[in-house]
Amino acid sequence: MRNPRDFAKPLAIGAPDPVLEVPFRPSRMIHFLDFSNEKMVAKAADIAAKADILLGNLEDAISVDRKQAAREGLIRAAKQSDFGETQLWSRVNSLESPWVLDDLTELVGEIGDRLDVIMVPKVEGAWDIHYVDRLLAQLEAKAGVARPIGIHAILETAQGVVNVEQIATASPRMQGMSLGPADLAASRRMKTTRVGGGHPGYQVIDDPDPDQPDAPRRTAQQDPWHYTLARMVDACASAGILPFYGPFGDIKDTAGCEAQFRAAFLLGCVGTWSLHPAQIEIAKKVFSPPVDEVLFAKKVIEAIPDGRGVHMIDGKMQDDATWKQCKVMVELAEMLAEKDPELAEAYELSTNGSGASDARSELG
Ligand code: GLV
Ligand code: MG
Repeated sequence: MRNPRDFAKPLAIGAPDPVLEVPFRPSRMIHFLDFSNEKMVAKAADIAAKADILLGNLEDAISVDRKQAAREGLIRAAKQSDFGETQLWSRVNSLESPWVLDDLTELVGEIGDRLDVIMVPKVEGAWDIHYVDRLLAQLEAKAGVARPIGIHAILETAQGVVNVEQIATASPRMQGMSLGPADLAASRRMKTTRVGGGHPGYQVIDDPDPDQPDAPRRTAQQDPWHYTLARMVDACASAGILPFYGPFGDIKDTAGCEAQFRAAFLLGCVGTWSLHPAQIEIAKKVFSPPVDEVLFAKKVIEAIPDGRGVHMIDGKMQDDATWKQCKVMVELAEMLAEKDPELAEAYELSTNGSGASDARSELG
């Protein structure tokens, strides 16, 4: 086992010191772009203004003959555009692929100072993170990168799910995790061709009525991703890193997408992927805390500034635990209000520049 005293030391001479607290900025949606498309390179700054995180995708959905163009397009977009406060990420190819070494070498060498996070697909265990961790340190040292690049793992193999806690704590670079329901379904041999969301074959059914055994019975579709998502949220929260939902493939089913995102938000996810501009709007709506909840939470915190004792507010019992729930809600609202004046007004919050740093305590 690695000596815990060494955890905060860089893994290569000249690499930046690891950060021990995950930087947390607005992260409601990771918007996927294919920079092998020249139009995307030209429009990147405009799209960045609408999203919290912009991601240059190099892996699945980028065909083999466009892998290099996608990498070069991302590098060009990062060099020529100003993304303001929007984070820039890339999803590199999987670790067994013939492209990943060049992905990492070229991205860190060319735009290492612009990249916030590298998303690593198909992570199976801590050993995958250790490999990327050391390699990033070497590349950062070589390129003179001043700030360490984070690692975000996609949880999308059965083995990854079994090892999720070890993955979450494998390195101080670990920034967070997303669910990858398409690859995970294939890895588990689940019988679905969908990308995320519910499934009409995964249901519960009322008991039969003894007096009318043949009468129709109510059924309800269930969420086949609930178990994995909840496990992932616990692994992330206990490690102080950020959980995200993943892709929702049926772009036209906006109601289904919203329901799946909302379930993830309630369980503790900070954001999700958006594969289409319409999903940016859905994610913004869902992952910004509801106005009535924020106003109630503010009322609780104002009424009980130290969070102690037991109180009744609007007929609801409040104690230390509910006070902490309210803090989670208000601190997130404060951070988002800094970015979005409409939200600031709805939440009745003044923007004084304190939100972002306060919100870090959401990670505990
Ligand atoms: C995402 O990468 C997925 O496999 O769902
Ligand atoms: Mg995948």
